[in-house]
Amino acid sequence: MSARDRIDIDPPYDYPAYKSTILRSPKQPLLRVAPHPMEATGPVFPRKFVTDSEADLTTWGKGAPLGEKMILTGRVTDEDGAPVRNSLLELWQCNSSGRYAHPVDQHDAPLDPNFLGQGKVLTGDKGEYRFVTIKPGAYPWKNHPWAWRPAHIHLSLFGNAYSQRLVTQLFFPGDPLLPIDPIFNSVPDESARQRMVCELDLEHGIEEVALGYRFDIVLRGVKSTPMGV
Ligand SMILES: [Fe+2]
Repeated sequence: MSARDRIDIDPPYDYPAYKSTILRSPKQPLLRVAPHPMEATGPVFPRKFVTDSEADLTTWGKGAPLGEKMILTGRVTDEDGAPVRNSLLELWQCNSSGRYAHPVDQHDAPLDPNFLGQGKVLTGDKGEYRFVTIKPGAYPWKNHPWAWRPAHIHLSLFGNAYSQRLVTQLFFPGDPLLPIDPIFNSVPDESARQRMVCELDLEHGIEEVALGYRFDIVLRGVKSTPMGV
């Protein structure tokens, strides 16, 4: 599958409804740059690069974070369903009030001293991963009147080189803000948009403790997960 075939799956660089793309999108045709040997041979992340506690965002503070605890599981595969093993999967998100633990985020919602909103795991032999976190809240972002981002989680994956970093967003089923979110709707194809929506997965939750959600990531092919969102 060529980059051209992904034209309906990945969002365009310039999507005026998402205002900041107007300024940051490339104004000249892209050039293919050969990777530096250092890039082409990395990255390799040893198991010890990631500790188990980094997959559980609810144990970082002195107490439990506020909000709805959730377990996020899934697999990372190629277009044939083959697992993508030992791949660094990073996650970042706002807290249950919709506030990021970042100095740039100054909107009127409380920080949670027990929630930093970042985690990482290495995928296992079947391409599987598991995070414990809390469900993020919606937040306003000034892109347009009544612009509130639907609840979402940012995810990043590295390939065989640092320059092969892929970034996507995960959304939640039934969120009423999805139809009016320019970022979600910047993905042209409807079925591709739906592949950014996780599924309720009770089997992988913990009864009376945390709901489970499933989000599989497909890296190539017509069923691939939109990237660059
Ligand atoms: Fe965000």
